[in-house]
Amino acid sequence: MSKKATLEIDGNKYEFPIIEGTEKELGIDIKTLRGVTGGVTTIDPGYKNTGSCESAITFLDGEKGILRYRGYSIEELAEKADFLEVAYLLIFGELPTAEQLNKFGKDIKEESHVDEDMKKILDGFPKSAHPMGVLSSLTSALIAFNPGSVDVDSEEEMYGAIVKILAKFPVLAAWTMRKRKSLPLDYGDNALGYVENLHKMMFSRPNKTYEANKIVNDALDKLLILHADHEQNCSTSTVRIVGSSHAGLFASLSAGISALWGPLHGGANQAVIEMLEAIKEDGGDTAKYIAKAKDKEDSFRLMGFGHRVYKNFDPRAKIIKVAAEEVLADLGIEDPVLDIAKGLAKVALEDEYFVKRKLYPNVDFYSGIIYRALGIPTEMFTVMFALGRLPGWIAQWREMRLRKEPIGRPRQIYTGETYRAFKSVSER
Ligand code: CMC
Repeated sequence: MSKKATLEIDGNKYEFPIIEGTEKELGIDIKTLRGVTGGVTTIDPGYKNTGSCESAITFLDGEKGILRYRGYSIEELAEKADFLEVAYLLIFGELPTAEQLNKFGKDIKEESHVDEDMKKILDGFPKSAHPMGVLSSLTSALIAFNPGSVDVDSEEEMYGAIVKILAKFPVLAAWTMRKRKSLPLDYGDNALGYVENLHKMMFSRPNKTYEANKIVNDALDKLLILHADHEQNCSTSTVRIVGSSHAGLFASLSAGISALWGPLHGGANQAVIEMLEAIKEDGGDTAKYIAKAKDKEDSFRLMGFGHRVYKNFDPRAKIIKVAAEEVLADLGIEDPVLDIAKGLAKVALEDEYFVKRKLYPNVDFYSGIIYRALGIPTEMFTVMFALGRLPGWIAQWREMRLRKEPIGRPRQIYTGETYRAFKSVSER
């Protein structure tokens, strides 16, 4: 028998169906709440208890530390798949056959040029501009060069738009970095794989032949896979809600990039390294910073710790921690910041404050250390996150449009003044 929830307000009882997911998650379906109760709504700031949609893309169990894309575990995907395979899986629902993967890769390469006029827009930004702001603007600007909205009922049009953005986004991301570093723009090389090409576009020098480094590219590939989707987080919900007004894919993505930028979301990877650097400069006293994080009078938070959903070790952090150690060893880098990170994690994991609140290291705690080892500037860390998250955003946007979800429009409980008569200036 299907489960039901009963709500009682002032002696009146209302019944609501309970929806059960494939992993036995339960959700009270309150779609009829306002209608049957005459306008009663729910209040849930930060949506801590609110499911905004049903989704078949990513499964996350924060208590057990499980993350799966389309049913496949993140551990297995990080070890055995490459980023384009994972992108295809997320967006289209199944791992691609060799033929599908080959075509997907080729189609992306075909679209990898960016209109020359986009360079004029890039030129208009000051060098000091944060790359996330530039990337969001350039993604938005792409609309002007690719006008017309996607007919979501046409698989072909949908596929075309997806391939286009997957192709152009790494070019734009790499350009934001080159602009900051006063390097001539690089157009990439279609003979290279997706991740290798991204690396080339970021790091090639005009007077040097680009040499690929397998350790670096494998690490980048893994990082992108680990960031590829994370169900209804702040930026993904933003992409879905913007897209729900039938704004186009590129416009929705641009909004998602802005949401990701914040230090409580994707911007945390930059904030972590800045925090570790500051601790190092201050003598490396981790106990002092643990005490600051626990002090309610102090606004300092241990960046890279805690997660809205994970109340256990973030499975991505586990993989990245091992990868960080491997990359540093392979590249022969000794980074005192990694030692500080390990020290902080050790103390925090044993400290009652963190244990009680189930605050564990999250994905951003170790990712910055690898990015640093790979020579990626700190302000580009969140751009790397965006590059990884792109397939997830696309998959969620596509799912939302194919399911013909209604426009996102939450309610509120008004707490302002009740009616008052207008007073002219002389009466105030
Ligand atoms: N350092 C110290 N205390 C913390 C921290 C932290 N990093 N995170 C949470 N707390 C405390 C918080 O003060 C609160 O304590 P109390 O119950 O005494 O008031 C309790 O833990 C619950 O915190 P919350 O802010 O209600 O939890 P939330 O689910 O709203 O926030 C979070 C989640 C990720 C925003 C938060 O843990 C945080 O600010 N972490 C640092 C920033 C960070 O690393 N963000 C990256 C998230 S992972 C990447 C991504 O997916 O975007």
